[in-house]
Amino acid sequence: MTPTIDTATAPPELDIDPYDTPVLLDPHPFYRRLLELGPVVRLKPYGVYAVGRHQEAQQVLSDPECFTASGGVGLFDIRKPGEHRPPNPILEKDPPDHTGIRKVVVGIVSPAVVRGWRAQFEQEAAEVADDVLERRDFDGVEQLAEAFVMRAFARVLGVEMPRQATLAISEMSFNRAGPFNALRAASEQRAAPYMDWYADSVRRGAMRPGSVGAQLHDAEAEGRLPPGTAEGACRVLVRAGTDTTIAGIGFALHQLARDPAQWALVKADPNRVRDAFEEAIRHESPSYTNFRTTTREVMLGGHVLAADTKIGVFLGAAGRDPRAWEEPDRFDLQRRPAGNHLAFGTGMHSCLGQMIARLEAECILKALVSRSASLQLDGPPAWRAINQLRTLDRLPLRVTPE
Ligand code: HEM
Repeated sequence: MTPTIDTATAPPELDIDPYDTPVLLDPHPFYRRLLELGPVVRLKPYGVYAVGRHQEAQQVLSDPECFTASGGVGLFDIRKPGEHRPPNPILEKDPPDHTGIRKVVVGIVSPAVVRGWRAQFEQEAAEVADDVLERRDFDGVEQLAEAFVMRAFARVLGVEMPRQATLAISEMSFNRAGPFNALRAASEQRAAPYMDWYADSVRRGAMRPGSVGAQLHDAEAEGRLPPGTAEGACRVLVRAGTDTTIAGIGFALHQLARDPAQWALVKADPNRVRDAFEEAIRHESPSYTNFRTTTREVMLGGHVLAADTKIGVFLGAAGRDPRAWEEPDRFDLQRRPAGNHLAFGTGMHSCLGQMIARLEAECILKALVSRSASLQLDGPPAWRAINQLRTLDRLPLRVTPE
């Protein structure tokens, strides 16, 4: 049945394509329009809804009865012809399926388990930091954030992650969550040579014994995870946990390098790198947009939304919402309350790896800060255009050892 919408209560329209390369490279003018125009807008180029304000973003992510994830967290409905694909076995499931699977994965990466990874992460971070200190001029993305995450996270996951292959696969999957544009086509081409490697790398036999990946396979073999879930769950962790964390560490490095006052704060107390990371992902969310689908005609922000329609939650806009944050464009690691941002999502699909990301960020940023007298930008940073991910491409930095 075609839903009936009273146009007087329908949301306003915004005629900007959020997946245009210039918008992806600098989404802030788009975020500002989204925030100004209203609590919900209809994105004209795709006929979908979008929210940017903190309150409505939180509401959509917290209400699976009205806003389901089973239509996929990308732009198109994965249940429909043309874009049909199997759902992501964690993120694109509703209760009760989601509840059981999430419980098993959370058990494998429980807070106690993640805390136990600290010493090894610190060791790996020290080695990566020593390497860039020897270079003095380095790329904060490739030589620090990527070098550390690809090593430390790959080890705990138990999956061999050659840098080029993993980044190509991950970029393709973030692009596939968007429209069929040139970015998506190019990334599919770049990832094509690695697809066989990727399929092999998440098989049971390829996992490092005792690792997170091996435990997911054990859980499936013991019947705690549905048949065929372990490989998919390993893929989710590779994709969800690699580029997002690299992006967040890159954002924190960028802000610390460009603002001597913020650098002085972490120098005075290196534990404050934790605040710097939280503020960095509030200020610039790695996750660009996460979609849900309306399950019926629903009211949101005073507007009536049609049933069975996609709605994108733009987390980067929510982090700049002046209703939630004072002077939202300013990076300030002393901001209180830190940690109320939505960069890790919220509700039942909230990021399952947030403790891991936080520990990784803390270890690598602290290793650098505690060994360096100063950190400065050594040229303008460059951004990478990816449909569903905001990340730096290059971050030229100059460091002075202590
Ligand atoms: C700075 C780093 C990270 C950011 C910004 C981030 C962001 C997010 C966001 C926004 C969501 C919610 C998506 C939605 O509701 O549609 C999410 C979910 C998820 N993240 Fe992360 N993430 C990060 C790191 C990680 C890491 C290291 C892992 C690896 C374990 C991970 C695994 C997951 C999984 C499995 C989910 C789905 C949870 C569920 O559906 O129950 N993430 N993440």
